[in-house]
Amino acid sequence: MNEPALVVEPLGPHHDRAAFFCGEPILDAYLQRQASQDIRRRVAQVFVALGDSPGRIAGYYSLSATSFEKDELPPTSAKRLPHYPVPAAILGRLAVDRALQGQGLGETLLLDAIRRIVRASATIAVHAIVVDAKNDRAVAFYEQYGFRAFASERRRLFLPLDTIERLGL
Ligand SMILES: CC(C)(COP(=O)(O)OP(=O)(O)OC[C@H]1O[C@@H](n2cnc3c(N)ncnc32)[C@H](O)[C@@H]1OP(=O)(O)O)[C@@H](O)C(=O)NCCC(=O)NCCS
Repeated sequence: MNEPALVVEPLGPHHDRAAFFCGEPILDAYLQRQASQDIRRRVAQVFVALGDSPGRIAGYYSLSATSFEKDELPPTSAKRLPHYPVPAAILGRLAVDRALQGQGLGETLLLDAIRRIVRASATIAVHAIVVDAKNDRAVAFYEQYGFRAFASERRRLFLPLDTIERLGL
C-alpha cells in the first residue's frame, strides 16, 4: 500500500507550536514565539508538515524574499549577473521534530520549499535560493542538494534556479 502523501500547509493557529522540539533551541523558539508575528508583518511565510495527530507539527520551514550582490558569489557563478542586486528567495529556517529526524522528512520539506519557489519565480524573478546553515552538519545536508557556499561566508549557501531545472529537482 502507498504511504499517504505528506501534508505541508501554511502555519496557522490550530497548529501546536509548543510541542515542537528539533534540538536547536533557536529553531524551536522561532516557531513558538516569532513565526506568527513574522507572517502577520509579511516578513516570512512559514509552512508546516503535519504529524500523525491533529495539530502536531512534524517539521517546518520559512521563506522570504532577499537579494545579494554578484560579488558575494564565487567568480564562476557571478559571471553574466548584473551589477545591481540579484533577486533571491531565502529559506530562513528548516527543522524537523527530533522524534522524526532521519526518515526523509527534511528532504521532503526542502523539495517542497524548492517547488514553491520555482512556481513563484514564474511571476516574480528569483535567481537563486539562499540558506544560512546553522552549523557544519547543516552545510553538509544542503550540499547534497547542490547548494554551494557564497564566496564571502562559508555557511551562507546558494542554489541557482537553473541548476534546479537542470537537476530536475
Ligand atoms: C537538518 C534536518 C532538517 C534534516 O532533516 P531530517 O529529516 O533529519 O533529514 P532527512 O532524513 O530528510 O535526510 C536527508 C538526507 O540528509 C542527510 N542528513 C540528515 N541530517 C543531516 C545533517 N544534520 N547533516 C548532514 N546530513 C544530514 C541524511 O543522511 C539524508 O541523506 P541520505 O538520504 O543520503 O541518507 C534535521 O535533522 C533538523 O531539523 N535538525 C535540527 C535543526 C537544524 O539543524 N536545521 C538546519 C537548519 S540550518
